Amino acid sequence: MNLETSDNLLIDRDAGVGTITINRPRVLNALNTQTLDDLRRAILAFRHDGDVRAVIITGSGDKAFIAGADINELAVQTPTSGRDLAMRGQHVLDLIENLGKPVIAAINGYALGGGCELAMACTIRIAAESARLAQPEINLGIIPGYGGTQRLSRLVGRGRALELLLTGDQITAAEAWRIGLVNRVVPQAELMPEARRMAQALAGKAPVAIRYIIDAVNKGLQMPFADAQVFEATLFGLVATTEDMREGTRAFLEKRRAEFKGK
Ligand code: COA
Repeated sequence: MNLETSDNLLIDRDAGVGTITINRPRVLNALNTQTLDDLRRAILAFRHDGDVRAVIITGSGDKAFIAGADINELAVQTPTSGRDLAMRGQHVLDLIENLGKPVIAAINGYALGGGCELAMACTIRIAAESARLAQPEINLGIIPGYGGTQRLSRLVGRGRALELLLTGDQITAAEAWRIGLVNRVVPQAELMPEARRMAQALAGKAPVAIRYIIDAVNKGLQMPFADAQVFEATLFGLVATTEDMREGTRAFLEKRRAEFKGK
């Protein structure tokens, strides 16, 4: 196991799974510019690390995943710096969404504002029963700026998204599961074991096929249906050229477990 730290993140790599822990517990892991920048670098490092096949993002402590953008920084934005800040956050979340490896948000407490937006950029969300999710920007007189208006409406539908965005109300993990905002809810003690179990299971699957599925879903959703189907068919053709495709089909026919190499 190899453990590195930045001032604001804990980074761990173990058995094909990279874990990033946002580590600012005194401010409930709020995302300031420096943390966002560290996160961008950590995500890029995982993108280029062939040994990392799945990623977990979580928050330190048992109270918060991420309690949003750092309100000390928000309070002093100008029109131009505010636009830059939103674009910087959007860029990091886009990197997470399109990492090409599964990213699991292990939501261990408050996921508010930018924290909920970051969780939505992840491939899969697992929440502890005690987690609370919200887009409370409206209560600060602002709107989400890290893609929240767009990802929330795509995940839970326009009506529910507008209600959450306009009221700013917190919802429980159970309610978040009911409306499709999180994939699974588990007891707090089970959160990291469950996230690791899922990450390791996904890390064992064919990496190229994983990347193309994420691409087909994310990019396909931005295309007209017919174009998205052509895109899917093209990726299907591409994946048919991989060694992993031959290994996966052969292993099935030979009644053994496939060993995927990402080639
Ligand atoms: N930015 C900066 N600091 C934050 C923060 C944020 N988004 N969220 C919490 N903090 C800080 C608090 O100011 C407090 O600092 P202090 O100890 O120096 O006073 C510390 O974290 C603990 O938070 P506190 O409010 O005392 O905890 P709580 O249990 O009473 O309430 C929350 C928890 C999450 C409900 C509350 O902190 C909150 O509403 N935070 C802001 C959430 C938000 O609006 N996020 C969206 C930003 S776009």
